[in-house]
Amino acid sequence: MSTYNTPKWWKESVIYQIYPSSFQAHPGAKNEQGVGWGTVKGITSRLDYLKSLGVDIVWTSPIYKSPQADMGYDIADYKDIDPIYGSVADVDELIAECKKRDMRLMMDLVVNHTSNMHQWFLDSRSSKSNPKRDWYIWKDPKSRNEAGTPEPPNNWAQILGEANSAWTYDTETGQYYLSVFTPDQPDLNWENPEVREAVWDVMSFWLDKGVAGFRMDVINMISKVPTYPEAPIVLDPATHKYQPGTQFFVNGPKMHDYMHEMYEKVLSKYDTITVGEMPGVDSEDEILRTVGANAKELNMIFIFALVDIDKPNVRMALKDWDVKELKSIVSRWQNVMIERDGWNSVFIENHDNPRSVSRYTDDSDEWRDKGAKLLSLMQTTLGGTIFVYQGEEIGIKNAPMEWDPREYKDIETINYWNKCQTIYKDDPEKLKLGRKIIQMKARDHARTPMQWSSAPNAGFCDADTKPWMRIMDDWKTVNAEAQVKYEGDELSTWQFWQRGLKDRKEHADVFVYGGFEEVNKDDENVFGYVRTSKEGEKWLVVLNFSGKEQKWMIPTKEVEFWACSNYTKGRADKAKSGELVLKPWEGALGKVSG
Ligand code: GLC
Repeated sequence: MSTYNTPKWWKESVIYQIYPSSFQAHPGAKNEQGVGWGTVKGITSRLDYLKSLGVDIVWTSPIYKSPQADMGYDIADYKDIDPIYGSVADVDELIAECKKRDMRLMMDLVVNHTSNMHQWFLDSRSSKSNPKRDWYIWKDPKSRNEAGTPEPPNNWAQILGEANSAWTYDTETGQYYLSVFTPDQPDLNWENPEVREAVWDVMSFWLDKGVAGFRMDVINMISKVPTYPEAPIVLDPATHKYQPGTQFFVNGPKMHDYMHEMYEKVLSKYDTITVGEMPGVDSEDEILRTVGANAKELNMIFIFALVDIDKPNVRMALKDWDVKELKSIVSRWQNVMIERDGWNSVFIENHDNPRSVSRYTDDSDEWRDKGAKLLSLMQTTLGGTIFVYQGEEIGIKNAPMEWDPREYKDIETINYWNKCQTIYKDDPEKLKLGRKIIQMKARDHARTPMQWSSAPNAGFCDADTKPWMRIMDDWKTVNAEAQVKYEGDELSTWQFWQRGLKDRKEHADVFVYGGFEEVNKDDENVFGYVRTSKEGEKWLVVLNFSGKEQKWMIPTKEVEFWACSNYTKGRADKAKSGELVLKPWEGALGKVSG
């Protein structure tokens, strides 16, 4: 018996991801360098805004104590909050304030690796005989050349800097440690049961405080192939000494054992929401082992197929894609979870990806608002638990080409641009392409400060404080305050999101739990699907993913009424059967007659 449409709070909840450094600084907040930086108090001050959008759960990217080498995804103390964000007391207050509004807080759990400044690692690197030595992955050099210079144990490249080795040499003890993201993020050795116990302890600490659950950072990378094989050559070896080794640690040999242990030891004791970040896995069988209703692992994972649609073998590169591919990815995972009793997460943005309106639609002044609403309509009508990313609700777009590479603060972008300048220094065309890739793919686009209002610094931080990262130049016109208050013939992007989330809740049996059927599959521009509740209530979603008018045959009987379109405020006056004319980037939602 499938439990797919059995109601659960974590299936129906609307989750909003906060990128804490860029969300909201409270008055007077500055970091040590005197720059404006978001804070926990700032988050608390915006709960009413989130509530009115329709949010139930606030997930914040890491706010724990951290040197911020990778913006908090390098944790130095799992039970303390970084002073730039505030204190544990501030988080207690945030949890309490959420509760007052019938909302909850979800934390980011980053336990594939720690910071190199975590006490566990400081102990581990202090000597080969330290009791914590084995908490991380230490290996002897593969070889030494004649001059005695060591070579790393294998050819794996860093994920956030593919020009560099995933192994970092420690001169004190003459060994390498594994650090698949950056040298500041040594990988924990999950083979060691003490490490796992320490992780369970951290999880219980936060769950006992009342957090709703966790988003688990790269949780499918915790088990490595123990022989550490050489990675196949996929990047040009003339310019790349190191190669992606992900296949040897994505869904590795013991991952499911560890996930089961996590479930037994911690998750089964609480009523939690869990979502695993699991890049690089495509096998349905493998994914169902984690998110199947009886898997005893996690509620859901982030499947990256849609956000990797333009990724060849590494993220900072480009690949062509088309609307048919987008349609088939979305339809595939909708159907798989329904047929195999799993559960989807629905998302198209996060802090590791460029802005969706720039990526999948047209972010020019003429079409940005339509594109953002089109993507909202798609997401609010797909099955699964929905995640909205900070700024997505007002249609923030990518930073423009004119921005100097120095405006980009992310370690991945910095490493990438350094690589381009080194290996492409005599090739202006490749350098130009590198700049284009940064403009299209950098993670920084999702990390510009939130555009709250037309006040100085977009209301993100005090007027006399420079924000840590440049605010998008369009904040005076594109901001939350203007969109919340907007009055016109259409809804603003924010109001359209609010409408969509409300509709989704009111018709959860259709949009959250219902059946999914793609229609007119062969259409090259229009994505159409029908969602059906257990009781047989049907809704048709039609999304024109092109900048041209499209004609589309309504495949169902009669459309009773068009409940909304991204061109109207309320119901839309459109054909109810036969040929439907869709304007550029138009999306519409119709109730199908019974
Ligand atoms: C995840 C995070 C990303 C981080 C990486 C290493 O992919 O989302 O921001 O850089 O893990 O922790």
